[in-house]
Amino acid sequence: MEARWLSELVILVGLFGVVLAYRRPLPRRTISVPLPMDADPDTSPQQVHISQVGQNNMKISWITQSPTPAIVHYAPSPQANASFATGSTSSYSYLAYQSGQIHDVVIGPLNPNTLYYYRLGDPPSSTQYSFKTTPPSFPLKFAIVGDLGQTDWTRSTLQHVANSSYDMLLLPGDLSYADTVQDRWDSYGRLVEPLASQRPWMVTQGNHEIETIPVLHSQPFTAYNARWRMPFEQSGSDSNLYYSFDVAGVHVIMLGSYTDFDSDSAQYKWLVGDLQKVDRNKTPWLLVLLHAPWYNSNTAHQNEPQSYDMKASMEDLLYQARVDVVFAGHVHAYERFTRVYKDKADNCGSVYITIGDGGNREGLASKYIDPKPEISVFREASFGHGILDVVNATHAQWTWHRNDDDEAVVADSVWFNSPSTVPNCKV
Ligand SMILES: *[C@@H]1O[C@H](CO)[C@@H](O)[C@H](O)[C@H]1NC(C)=O
Ligand SMILES: *[C@@H]1O[C@H](CO)[C@@H](O)[C@H](O)[C@H]1NC(C)=O
Ligand SMILES: *[C@@H]1O[C@H](CO)[C@@H](O)[C@H](O)[C@H]1NC(C)=O
Ligand SMILES: [Fe+2]
Repeated sequence: MEARWLSELVILVGLFGVVLAYRRPLPRRTISVPLPMDADPDTSPQQVHISQVGQNNMKISWITQSPTPAIVHYAPSPQANASFATGSTSSYSYLAYQSGQIHDVVIGPLNPNTLYYYRLGDPPSSTQYSFKTTPPSFPLKFAIVGDLGQTDWTRSTLQHVANSSYDMLLLPGDLSYADTVQDRWDSYGRLVEPLASQRPWMVTQGNHEIETIPVLHSQPFTAYNARWRMPFEQSGSDSNLYYSFDVAGVHVIMLGSYTDFDSDSAQYKWLVGDLQKVDRNKTPWLLVLLHAPWYNSNTAHQNEPQSYDMKASMEDLLYQARVDVVFAGHVHAYERFTRVYKDKADNCGSVYITIGDGGNREGLASKYIDPKPEISVFREASFGHGILDVVNATHAQWTWHRNDDDEAVVADSVWFNSPSTVPNCKV
């Protein structure tokens, strides 16, 4: 309501020709998503989400409060006799909190671009879920949103994302904002389930996933690694904090801003090897996601080592590999840079985009460095999400959708060309 009032104010101001900065809406309250009333609190599957494993398999993850079998029954139609697969179950404790049973089951091989139906546990859950596998080739549509949180703004962002007919969601860190209160991870899992059980959600970590408390809980990423275990082994990574995968003709690299990244680190060595394996004939597009942005003209999160030290360490690698776009979160706003390298516009550099505007409880980062650096093309502190529609091997359309009140409005739109089309930038 308040946000609508503010937009009307701006329209009025516009009519009278008075110059007034657009006042952005306030953060919204944290929501808590309970189990449905008819669910059995002990045995009902909850917090279902899926992630792609290799090109042909899907990992199904869910939680039950008490021990139940890690079995998924699945079929390409509701009537078909189901295949089944079994997996593993884990749990974790954090201070006095004891997690439920976290089940991970990899199913497949699956056909591309196909709707599958599935039930969880044994006997199979009464709830039937479904997901669609990603297409085998272009076009391919990513939804991209960082710093999601769980507020009424998050809910509005998720409604827009759900309506976008995306194939896969990419999240550059800061998921639940549980911030050590573990029940909030459960609530977050229930909040995102309607989307995350239907399309693969591929995530990397942000600072809110660390959750260490001096003396009391020194192990970082306990909840994140247990609940959002990504297919890192498949890309030769030894850590859930960085990994890569191919989808259709896109190679996606998920980096870890909150683990070692200097040139002696395991992550750095893994990245060198991963980039060497990229075949641009097979995957003409190369994307990178990380949390703390290397390019940022917002006053928030300037001069953090995770930004400038990681950039100093790894920017050359990404430049030599002709990475198309680097997506970051952390700053709660939207910003798009032109292709850059070492702080200067460069046709062979990567486009840098900050998309930390999912809707978390901390609110927006609305102060910008003045004047705007020339390499920053578009910047705005609003909640929203991005869609990268990879149309074919050479063209991809990026749109940023602002949550104007509760409607998604395209505020920034641009076509990207792959480096193979840029003179003198061939890989
Ligand atoms: C399911 O399996 C049963 C028993 O093997 C068989 O009679 C039936 O035709 C199968 N149904 C489908 C849809 O494949
Ligand atoms: C969903 O998308 C359609 C167009 O694709 C649009 O007309 C409709 O308003 C959208 N609904 C919501 C809730 O955003
Ligand atoms: C790729 O898509 C762009 C934008 O739609 C189009 O102009 C171009 O002709 C397409 N290229 C091929 C090879 O189809
Ligand atoms: Fe962050």
